[in-house]
Amino acid sequence: MSKYYEIVASKKEVFLKELVDLLKYPSISADPNYKNYVLDCADFVKNQMMLAGLDAVEIIPTKGFPIVYGEKIIDASLPTALIYGHYDVQPADPIDLWHSPPFEPVIKDGKIFARGAADDKGQFYMHLKALEILIADRKLSCNVKVIIEGEEEVGSTHLEQFALDYKEKLNCDFIVISDTSMISNENPSITTGLRGLCYMEVEVTGPNRDLHSGVYGGAVANPINTLCKMISQLQDDNGTIQIPGFYEKVEEVSQKERQAMAQAPFDIEAYKKHLNIDDVFGENEYNVLERVSIRPTLDVNGIWGGYIGEGAKTVLPSKAFAKISMRLVPHQDFHEIEKLFEDYFMSIAPKNVKVKVTPHHGGEPAVTPTDSFAYKVAEKAIVETYGKTPIPLRSGGSIPIVSMFKRVLGVDTVLLGFGLDSDAIHSPNEHYHLWNYYKGIETLCCMYSNMSL
Ligand code: BES
Ligand code: MN
Ligand code: MN
Repeated sequence: MSKYYEIVASKKEVFLKELVDLLKYPSISADPNYKNYVLDCADFVKNQMMLAGLDAVEIIPTKGFPIVYGEKIIDASLPTALIYGHYDVQPADPIDLWHSPPFEPVIKDGKIFARGAADDKGQFYMHLKALEILIADRKLSCNVKVIIEGEEEVGSTHLEQFALDYKEKLNCDFIVISDTSMISNENPSITTGLRGLCYMEVEVTGPNRDLHSGVYGGAVANPINTLCKMISQLQDDNGTIQIPGFYEKVEEVSQKERQAMAQAPFDIEAYKKHLNIDDVFGENEYNVLERVSIRPTLDVNGIWGGYIGEGAKTVLPSKAFAKISMRLVPHQDFHEIEKLFEDYFMSIAPKNVKVKVTPHHGGEPAVTPTDSFAYKVAEKAIVETYGKTPIPLRSGGSIPIVSMFKRVLGVDTVLLGFGLDSDAIHSPNEHYHLWNYYKGIETLCCMYSNMSL
């Protein structure tokens, strides 16, 4: 038990009530109908930063949703941490599968259920609460600058320009982000890598209008059948991606790092049971944890076309669509992968259809160092609160701004997330364990109050 355990425990109720209030904002950045809620949420975050005792708090406009900024500069000779988080959330659909409304937080079985509970409201808010405790007690031992953005879930469209415009203001020694997960509460871990992302949309057009499938079927190519055939040529049964050149720049992770990864506890039976699947999928040469972290992947995220209403309608549709994403690893470049994908997808298209390929937002992969000052202070704080040395482990998700910050500001990040993979982020019934919320606040108190190694 660390010396911050008691004080966090004594504030549990207020800290929870405030999180509930934050989670009530449906700050869905992807949906223009929610624009005002996103803006209201930024206001709320601004007020909470002031409540925490931060100075120079302001809402900085961008061409998209604003960035909320606050800082506490106590001594120019001390190290400066830049804390990043996001107040926007994913859309809540499919709504029907939620056990309680996504923006009416419910506390059940030690968890708080709401969209954004773990990604990322519950996580960035832990920083504000830790800072509040330390500022009130004059125990902060580093300078802090906090930026909470509102466009992470739509690709952080305006953050790079913001970083360029405010380079001086963002000057810091390291960046801290709590927007990832740990292996388990018994096996704490620090994320040391994230995958990149390349996201494509494809459109296959057959005849110029929907046709009667009896009158024309057999002589006119069905764009849905064709799209399915094309998708099946993107990957073989082993999960190997068939796009020529796709693996060319993939970093082969060293045996040493693979051995270190193998130290992470992983129970494949529990994994299958949790997901209710009889078997896993993927590249034979890599184990499950490797498949979801150091290897690139390709997944269809959505596919549509034709008749999907009640009952049966006989139709040979004019068009078929799919959204296809690829997770990338160092040193794949998403612009290059976009081009490789498009060339290959066009090359496998039969003459009887027209194909259009459009890229969506993408992002670079990132690997974060384990020998940095920031990693070491984070590691030390976890040892204090969890009683165990955290395991360094790469994650499969993407936070493209990590490599952007490295490129633009020249600063490394420590990915100190407190979620669990089972938190159902982006899914119905997203939740955050209250134990993790309070433990995170305690750990961050330890970290920001003690910068000596
Ligand atoms: N917080 C997640 C990323 C994440 C989750 C990393 C869990 C590691 C473990 C982030 O909000 C997210 O959802 N990122 C998107 C990409 C973004 C460009 C929309 C993703 O990974 O799909
Ligand atoms: Mn997130
Ligand atoms: Mn997310």
